Amino acid sequence: MQHIKLGKTDQLVSPIAYGAMSLVVDRRAEGKAAVARAYELGVNFYDVADVYGAPRGVSEEILGDALREASIPREDVFIASKCGIVFQGMVEAYEFKAYDLSARYIKESCEKSLKRLGMEYIDLYQPHRIDYLTHPEETARALDDLKAEGKIRHVGVSNFAPDEIRAISAYTRVESLQTQFSMLHLEPLETGLMATCQEKKMGILCWSPLHKAVLTGRSTSSHSDWRAQREDGVVAQLRPFAERYGVTLGQLALAWLMHLPGGVIPLVGTANPDHIAEAVAAADIQIERDDWYEMMVIARGRPMPWGQTPYAYLKER
Ligand SMILES: NC(=O)c1ccc[n+]([C@@H]2O[C@H](COP(=O)([O-])OP(=O)(O)OC[C@H]3O[C@@H](n4cnc5c(N)ncnc54)[C@H](OP(=O)(O)O)[C@@H]3O)[C@@H](O)[C@H]2O)c1
Repeated sequence: MQHIKLGKTDQLVSPIAYGAMSLVVDRRAEGKAAVARAYELGVNFYDVADVYGAPRGVSEEILGDALREASIPREDVFIASKCGIVFQGMVEAYEFKAYDLSARYIKESCEKSLKRLGMEYIDLYQPHRIDYLTHPEETARALDDLKAEGKIRHVGVSNFAPDEIRAISAYTRVESLQTQFSMLHLEPLETGLMATCQEKKMGILCWSPLHKAVLTGRSTSSHSDWRAQREDGVVAQLRPFAERYGVTLGQLALAWLMHLPGGVIPLVGTANPDHIAEAVAAADIQIERDDWYEMMVIARGRPMPWGQTPYAYLKER
């Protein structure tokens, strides 16, 4: 698995990252084993957030413990975390209160994350979602202060729109965008997000790259309406590709993302060591250009301009 540079940095990261939202109390031991297995297989990139787990923040604790217990040197791994989503008390229930990217909130959050992780610095610190009440200049300054103090190394953003990326980039150097991106969520391709990241030389970190296991064929959609039918239909149409390439559906979905240029990195969420091993193997899959576009058509559910329809494709085969 060839490591790649993240954004404009010289930092080499694995082309697949471990998504630590799956590190929860109920699966603590299994999750720690997955963290260690990921590292053994060449993953050095771990993504977490201050709000992951119940009680909130416990995923940071489990991640830090897992790395220490596996005797993984701090400098060998690249740790990304996030701040800015405020809940009513940092408890289990989803009780959204506000977004906060004020300087004071960011600095306090960073201290708390460092403590939970048991680390002296975070490699990539990401405002989790845009806060309309804080000017990006204030957020950027706070992040630059943290950099100057050695508490964070690089700045990324999460769930920012193209114009929001441009706004914060006017005040600080941003290395990556974290965004929902999978064959069942193509927004970054269709809204100019990917192009904006290319313009700014930012990497793209894809959250829910397996659409929460739907793209592995394991679970069906959480919806029971037209979305479920669409998702099941996409998965069914991808099966022949997985069979032909001799890979699993999940591997195909991850490889499809990794073929995009400019450092598009899936954040694979799993507490299962075998599942992270399966994901890592996807980094070596080569998809033919024609097949990639056939899959794009299937994912879109409509032809590319001047392209074939999925129906025509299936009929031909
Ligand atoms: N910035 C944001 O707003 C945001 C939002 C959501 C997520 N994220 C980041 O993205 C990461 C991943 O997101 P996610 O967990 O929502 O979605 P995901 O990676 O698309 O899916 C995770 C689910 O897929 C299952 N899975 C993984 N590999 C599998 C395999 N080979 N076969 C069958 N099932 C498999 C996992 O279960 P097992 O544990 O059983 O493998 C888990 O239920 C998170 O950990 C987090 O770092 C960021």
